[in-house]
Amino acid sequence: MSKFTSITQTTELNNGIQMPWLGFGVFKTKEGEEVEQAVADALEAGYRSIDTAAIYGNEEGVGNAIAASGLKREELFVTTKVWNSNQGFESTLKAFEESRRKLKLDVIDLYLVHWPVAGKYKDTYRALEKLYKEGHVRAIGVSNFLIPHLDDLLGNCEVVPAVNQVEFQPYLTQPELQSYCKERGIQLEAWSPLLQGNLDVPLLQEIGQAHGKSAAQVILRWDLQCGVVTIPKSVTKSRIIENADIFDFELTAEEVEKINGLNVGRRFGSDPMNFNF
Ligand SMILES: NC(=O)c1ccc[n+]([C@@H]2O[C@H](COP(=O)([O-])OP(=O)(O)OC[C@H]3O[C@@H](n4cnc5c(N)ncnc54)[C@H](OP(=O)(O)O)[C@@H]3O)[C@@H](O)[C@H]2O)c1
Repeated sequence: MSKFTSITQTTELNNGIQMPWLGFGVFKTKEGEEVEQAVADALEAGYRSIDTAAIYGNEEGVGNAIAASGLKREELFVTTKVWNSNQGFESTLKAFEESRRKLKLDVIDLYLVHWPVAGKYKDTYRALEKLYKEGHVRAIGVSNFLIPHLDDLLGNCEVVPAVNQVEFQPYLTQPELQSYCKERGIQLEAWSPLLQGNLDVPLLQEIGQAHGKSAAQVILRWDLQCGVVTIPKSVTKSRIIENADIFDFELTAEEVEKINGLNVGRRFGSDPMNFNF
């Protein structure tokens, strides 16, 4: 029996909170009508987890779509992130208030440090710990943290991050980081799972054909079978539905290994060891 049979399935984070394995990303989705429609389509397709960030500039639209959905608050899992220019203890607390006001939510399910800004991320994370202890967020975590960042943070924090959201796709599987997080109870979450739309990969298409699925669906299924939470983005209703239709097939162990074999350490996004924003 496959472990992943329904879009409502969740992974239990290290503090007991349930997080859906499949979520919906809204990076580059425009504030206003575009994001409101995309999130409405996603909720209709069954997604219950939405991933936004202050820097995406669309928290207000995400909040509008959530409010209009009629879904109960406890049915939804909402993630947002503190942006780099707001890092530091007090400024993070302030940024959080702004995000929560825009999202029109009292409690955020998961609040992340967006990037490991040198000299600041530990103070930022202390602010997240305060928000967590006061009950304003149900879980806290990090994003774009590599092993040296995590080593440094774990030696200086009280609450082990529940999640590390990093670029993770067939060309960039970061096996050492995967094991590191797994051993410490940190759930890995994949950003840009769909190679930012660069899905013309023969192996993925071949495997897809064997299952009657697209390359996008193969990758998303592979994420889950690797134990990685995934958050594909789309503003196209048919693709939003397609990306959620991954619970009626299973990759063989051999197919998973073949996809793992595509790893060449290639990034589509910025390198967390060398970014300047
Ligand atoms: N923490 C971070 O630093 C960070 C960084 C990047 C992303 N993220 C998060 O991760 C989410 C996903 O990453 P992403 O948005 O960079 O990229 P992605 O999900 O890998 O790819 C999105 C692109 O793929 C296209 N697409 C979606 N489904 C498709 C399908 N079934 N067939 C063909 N093309 C398809 C989309 O086009 P259309 O939209 O035109 O349909 C869009 O151009 C983001 O939205 C964001 O929430 C986090």
